Amino acid sequence: MNVQIILNILVIVESLLLLVISITLFRKTSDFKKLKKYEEALIMFQANQNDVIPMLVHELRAPLSVVKGASDLLLKSTDEMNADQVRDLLAQIKSSSEGLLKMVGDILDVSKMEGGKFQISKVFGSLGGLLKEECAYFESLARVKEVSLSCATGENIPEFSFDPERVKQVMSNLLSNAIKFTPKGGSVEVIARHVDRIVEVVVEDTGIGVPEKDQPKLFHKFFQAGNQGGVTQKGTGLGLVITKGIVEAHGGKIWYEDNKPKGAKFIFALPLK
Ligand SMILES: Nc1ncnc2c1ncn2[C@@H]1O[C@H](COP(=O)(O)OP(=O)(O)OP(=O)(O)O)[C@@H](O)[C@H]1O
Ligand SMILES: [Mg+2]
Repeated sequence: MNVQIILNILVIVESLLLLVISITLFRKTSDFKKLKKYEEALIMFQANQNDVIPMLVHELRAPLSVVKGASDLLLKSTDEMNADQVRDLLAQIKSSSEGLLKMVGDILDVSKMEGGKFQISKVFGSLGGLLKEECAYFESLARVKEVSLSCATGENIPEFSFDPERVKQVMSNLLSNAIKFTPKGGSVEVIARHVDRIVEVVVEDTGIGVPEKDQPKLFHKFFQAGNQGGVTQKGTGLGLVITKGIVEAHGGKIWYEDNKPKGAKFIFALPLK
């Protein structure tokens, strides 16, 4: 992937996000010609680049269109809207910008990993506490999807040094996948155990699982299995690459196993020292 092109896209996206922030604060000074210009630049990228770049740009365009549509409406018709309608549009802008920021962050992380510049910053702390917090955070998403989420986070895990923000990112990627690919009525379980000088964390689900032929490609950039189990909210296919990069930066390992009788099981191991 051409890092320069990616950085150019990031600059465009960042500028658009700044524009969104000013719109959400109702500073009606935004220059929409500028937005048009950025859009045209994105279309040009889409037309000219190789397979990966158009795909990324396509992913970026969907949330950007929501941001543009919602902010257009807000600027034109605020006076005719009630507070709920305004709040709805602002919520759409917020959620689309969060999606964009995640995508931009993911692209930057992968670029750093590929360029050997990815760094973690370890602090001494409790992994069990972090796992509990992440499970609590995902509880509402699981409830909305009618998937049960349970956490056995191992009270006896000793404190050790790890990068809490990055390990949260690992858990967030694994838990969001597990919930995303598990249909209604299924379950997701997080188990942490302490084996010798290693802590193992298992995230298992009873969802669609990964067919054997796709398993070797799971940690490849942009890989998404053919069967997405009817999931409409598609991601970028970078989550597991970043997850693996973070685990390996800690000197650890991550792998996939089938969950019996069905579903997926991701296990990562971090060294205590
Ligand atoms: N728990 C799971 N059950 C079934 N398939 C999974 C699971 N986790 C990952 N996969 C498969 O691996 C693919 C890659 O996962 P990854 O997290 O890298 O990307 P994504 O979730 O599609 O997008 P992103 O995480 O970048 O938003 C998924 O699209 C899916 O096909
Ligand atoms: Mg994912």
